[in-house]
Amino acid sequence: MNARKIKGAVALVTGANRGIGRALTEALLSRGVGKVYATARNPEALRDLRDERFVLLRLDVTDADQISAAAASDVDLVFNNAGVAFMGGIADSIVIGQARREMEVNYFGPLQLLQCLAPTLARNGGGAVVNIGSAAGLTNLPFVPTYSASKAALHSLTQAARILLGSQGTSVFGVYAGPVDTDMSRELAMPKTSPRDVAFAILDGIEAGQEYIFPDPFAADFGRQFESSPKASERQVAAMVASLAA
Ligand SMILES: NC(=O)c1ccc[n+]([C@@H]2O[C@H](COP(=O)([O-])OP(=O)(O)OC[C@H]3O[C@@H](n4cnc5c(N)ncnc54)[C@H](OP(=O)(O)O)[C@@H]3O)[C@@H](O)[C@H]2O)c1
Repeated sequence: MNARKIKGAVALVTGANRGIGRALTEALLSRGVGKVYATARNPEALRDLRDERFVLLRLDVTDADQISAAAASDVDLVFNNAGVAFMGGIADSIVIGQARREMEVNYFGPLQLLQCLAPTLARNGGGAVVNIGSAAGLTNLPFVPTYSASKAALHSLTQAARILLGSQGTSVFGVYAGPVDTDMSRELAMPKTSPRDVAFAILDGIEAGQEYIFPDPFAADFGRQFESSPKASERQVAAMVASLAA
């Protein structure tokens, strides 16, 4: 795995208007990135990003035309960050619609962006792709069962991309975050890491060439356990769910 430098890179970030995407966009700038295509469904929400290195773009990751239009020819560092998560059980009446939406945004979006940008990355020397997944994509967190499944699909895609794009010199990083203090985790009553700290830890992981990036204390603990025993991680989650239900 090749480490990638942030300084001078030309990055594209999806969902750059808030949360981890916004923090990544700002962290990239402070680490000396050459240019950032900061993208969002509503580019008005990016207007306060005033540095001349920002290029603001409209990009809904479920819109094929917008993805083609955003596939800028000079990009060499892609952050698949945009995501949605729905709380709820698998017997809820709305679960199918929500699960489909999660797959559209969290899996098909990154897949389509990869399909579109892989030739660009090849032309630009290989570059790198960073998929913002979740610890819940490695061990299902049943508070968000269908979200976890969509992140498991993203993890699987990340593994495939690492091999398939490796031959063109593209580095592929998977990020497996724990709870981060953003709108997405508002209902989660547990300690959370700031998006800023997570963003810098992700950039550190890229520069260190870590294929699996665990960017916060919860994720780091989880990662150590998962790497020694995936089954033990599953048992630990089951015990946590049982104790909360008791
Ligand atoms: N927060 C956590 O605890 C946590 C933990 C692990 C992993 N993650 C992952 O980190 C990533 C960022 O999440 P976050 O915590 O920053 O959540 P967030 O604050 O809810 O932000 C989600 C971002 O995704 C964008 N988005 C949603 N649907 C989109 C679409 N169809 N096209 C383009 N952008 C879209 C949102 O844009 P709008 O403003 O237009 O909705 C927003 O910018 C996600 O992939 C998430 O799964 C988060």
